[in-house]
Amino acid sequence: MLLNLKKVFTIFLVLFLPLIFHHAFAQQRYNNFKPGKIWEDNKGKHINAHGGGVTEIDGVYYWYGEHKVAGNIGNTAQVGVHCYSSKDLYNWKDEGIALKVSDDLSSDIAKGCILERPKVVFNKRTKKFVMWFHLELLGKGYEAARAGVAIADRASGPFLFARSYRPNPNKLPVYPNAESQKQAVNCSSPANKSDGFFCRDMPGGQMARDMTVYVDDDGKAYHIFSSEENFTLHLAELSDDYLSHTGKFIRIYIGQQTEAPALFKKDGKYYMVGSGCTGWAPNPARWFVADSIWGPWKYMGNPCIGEGSALTFGGQSTHIFKAPGTKNQFIFMADQWTPKNPIDGKYLWLPIDFNEGKMEISWNDRWDLSVWKK
Ligand code: GAL
Repeated sequence: MLLNLKKVFTIFLVLFLPLIFHHAFAQQRYNNFKPGKIWEDNKGKHINAHGGGVTEIDGVYYWYGEHKVAGNIGNTAQVGVHCYSSKDLYNWKDEGIALKVSDDLSSDIAKGCILERPKVVFNKRTKKFVMWFHLELLGKGYEAARAGVAIADRASGPFLFARSYRPNPNKLPVYPNAESQKQAVNCSSPANKSDGFFCRDMPGGQMARDMTVYVDDDGKAYHIFSSEENFTLHLAELSDDYLSHTGKFIRIYIGQQTEAPALFKKDGKYYMVGSGCTGWAPNPARWFVADSIWGPWKYMGNPCIGEGSALTFGGQSTHIFKAPGTKNQFIFMADQWTPKNPIDGKYLWLPIDFNEGKMEISWNDRWDLSVWKK
């Protein structure tokens, strides 16, 4: 009998001890970033949060992104927006699906729609978490080009879908400086293709595809999105509750097809990184700088340097945020898409450097937050 108990105990140890250890230490598994490699969450699963962004709340970081599934169908939203949390940015805890797609086929976010690039901001006045995303209606390819918004009381959700629409119908852009004035849109005689799309879409609202949301130091929020058939970026002011557009917006880099915008502010200047427009295939990144959020936004070329820089190291920008423990250093987040099996997509997180005022992003196989201390 005793022998049997011993045997059972040994079998238990052999079978379950590795599991118990795995679980106990899973949270502390990583102490660096390895761009382009499998990145496991606390359950040992590759993180599933593509086209995402990171939001910090009281020292906890929340990573939201598109939950992808295997196969071609994975390019559509079968599940929703996945959320993870972390205190150190290396080790991520699965917080589940923050925004679920709906089984109701008449819902704007019906299962099988396209729901991309979710970004979450916290509204200090309303104490609500607000998620914006690019939405394409079920079965309609990429023709809807809408912005969608959802709200939650807690960072990890559940987010409640509010509505989706094309922003700023019947509104003209503002022209806050001489440069923008020179490019004023004239719908009785559009100067170029992009202006033509802008004028065409005025009655129903402007197209809104690849996007981000940026909250400035004064609490004002802005939605930045690829519009006009992806030819031109719009930077549009959101209402004080962050739930709608105010109608005030500018156009950026007209006709130049910028996608995947990510914004940040450093030493009083505004910076944006974006990509060109080649679908899931990588292309050169591009950066912009402005003294005011309302521009003029100056095009500065490719911030990536060194080997792989011509194609953004195989990735496409999605978000930029301030690195913890630094005064003013930023992390560049990009996606390495794998459209044939989207669930396999990898993440490229790289440190942003500034060299005599010029933004620089270079490849790094393995790095950690101490890079800025060196
Ligand atoms: C990319 C865009 C992605 C997705 C994809 C679809 O250019 O950045 O978010 O929309 O096209 O082909």
